Amino acid sequence: MLARHNQSKALQWLGKQLFNREDPAAFFDPLLERINPMWVQEYTPARVEQVLQETSDTRTFVLKPARRWQGFEAGQHVNICVEVDGTRRNRTFSLSSSPILWQKQGLITLTIKRLPGGRVTNWLHDHLDVGSVLGLGEAFGDFTVPEPAAPVLFIAGGSGITPVLSQLETMAAQDYRAPVTLLYYVRTSEDVIAREKLEALTARHPALTLTIIATHDGTAPRYLSDADLGTVPGLNARQVFLCGPKGLMDLAGELLQSRGVRERDIHCTFFSVPQANIEDQPLGGQVRFAQSDLEVGSEGDANLLEIAEAAGLTPRYGCRMGICHQCSCRKTSGTVINRLTGQKSGPGEENVQLCISVPQGPVSIDV
Ligand code: FES
Repeated sequence: MLARHNQSKALQWLGKQLFNREDPAAFFDPLLERINPMWVQEYTPARVEQVLQETSDTRTFVLKPARRWQGFEAGQHVNICVEVDGTRRNRTFSLSSSPILWQKQGLITLTIKRLPGGRVTNWLHDHLDVGSVLGLGEAFGDFTVPEPAAPVLFIAGGSGITPVLSQLETMAAQDYRAPVTLLYYVRTSEDVIAREKLEALTARHPALTLTIIATHDGTAPRYLSDADLGTVPGLNARQVFLCGPKGLMDLAGELLQSRGVRERDIHCTFFSVPQANIEDQPLGGQVRFAQSDLEVGSEGDANLLEIAEAAGLTPRYGCRMGICHQCSCRKTSGTVINRLTGQKSGPGEENVQLCISVPQGPVSIDV
């Protein structure tokens, strides 16, 4: 077993072994199988071809997945799997490249911001280099552009630009005919991700209008306002796509609705999945983790994943937002409330997503 400080070298060595192979899976699968046979079924190996520094805390990783990977639609997400300090970690990221790059060159990109305290994002920035290999799940999600073409407004914040980059590139390549506006909010002008690409897309695609707003460049913060929405022609006929931090998305949702944009025309991605108001219900209870032979009490709206982790367990998870289903487990008894929909489960056996299930009374889980 290699010492931890050699982990990044090991990844590069592995990458070199794959370098001249047509299909990295042919080499990588047997290795994965020795670590965990499930990985082979769940993940496709993808090799890092290039690392681009976008801003001081954001990098784009250009990846070459093995051929069996099924591809994606612009705006979709993927789970990735890496081993951090001996523990397998899964996370969900949006693809930032267009499917055309995948179709023509077999490449995809993930643009990832280093999050303060983020175990995986920091590890990726510190260890993932050209030649490294990670596990890649199949793409999922419905944050995809309308077909046939309809007027679109994107409101993106910070690294929430990533699925929008994929969509804009695809729209430009398809000569998308309806008007497209992007309002992109960043903290300072240094934090603009892919500025050159965005400006090139705007120059190439006349239907696209780009406005970049730095919220903290001036003496007073300058957030999304009703006046910003007033600059968007035909706002109420647009399909609106929101992707960014929760504060921005909540504000955008309120302002759009006060301008009469219909809820069904507003689409959110996993950065900002809306949550139901469940605080007025009795929440919490005794949770039994049957496989671990452990029972703990919970209070308030803590979800099963948080309760398990607080008890020292390490169940599998990805997005922690109810999107990727990686935390799905068997509930053998008890009632849980779905944090996203507010709906109550039945009392009996069923699969639940740990990260969005809040116990209501005693619950038993196969963890
Ligand atoms: S971790 Fe993704 S759905 Fe729970």
